[in-house]
Amino acid sequence: MTARPKTDDAAPISVIPYLDYETARSLLINQWGDDALVFGGKAHTASEMTLKAAFSADGKLGGVAYYRMNGMVALLGAIVVTDGGRGMGTALFNAVADEARAHKMKRLRAITTNDNFEAMAFFQKRGMRFMSMFPGGVDAYRAFKPGLRELGFHGISCRDVFELELDL
Ligand SMILES: CC(C)(COP(=O)(O)OP(=O)(O)OC[C@H]1O[C@@H](n2cnc3c(N)ncnc32)[C@H](O)[C@@H]1OP(=O)(O)O)[C@@H](O)C(=O)NCCC(=O)NCCS
Repeated sequence: MTARPKTDDAAPISVIPYLDYETARSLLINQWGDDALVFGGKAHTASEMTLKAAFSADGKLGGVAYYRMNGMVALLGAIVVTDGGRGMGTALFNAVADEARAHKMKRLRAITTNDNFEAMAFFQKRGMRFMSMFPGGVDAYRAFKPGLRELGFHGISCRDVFELELDL
């Protein structure tokens, strides 16, 4: 997704809890061909996650964050926006981090895959650091979910899972 030139008069974004799991699932499937979110080699579906949605001032859905609190760690399974470069991803990331802090979580953990340079940049620019890599993490899940796309972003095979963390 291409970021637009930044404007000073950015429209306000509302981030609220979201219960429309069908739409949330569709966003994941449109993006990746499946609603699997892989953590530490284990797959979770959208229905197992808590959701937040970002809306633009005109009420249009701008994106969804999929996350869950797990012990002392908040797991950010994915953020998917409908139109990039408008601040939706950042608003969702900040809202999940704020909620995790309010729940006294120690760390926010995000996942991405080897083909997703944009997400690697996005998360690092928001303070996250790489903590783990699971070679073949996506391949392992593909055995059970053949609908998962072979080719990821930039025409790169989507195979490995990277985890990043932010101290809260
Ligand atoms: C990665 C992703 C979530 C980022 O979401 P996004 O909404 O584009 O993110 P933002 O708009 O908040 O930030 C992107 C850039 O736009 C800039 N931006 C923010 N508000 C802006 C505005 N109103 N106008 C123009 N640019 C803006 C940000 O500064 C940011 O630049 P930076 O990263 O250099 O600081 C999005 O690209 C996406 O959904 N990708 C596909 C799914 C995915 O890979 N998810 C992440 C892995 S789970």
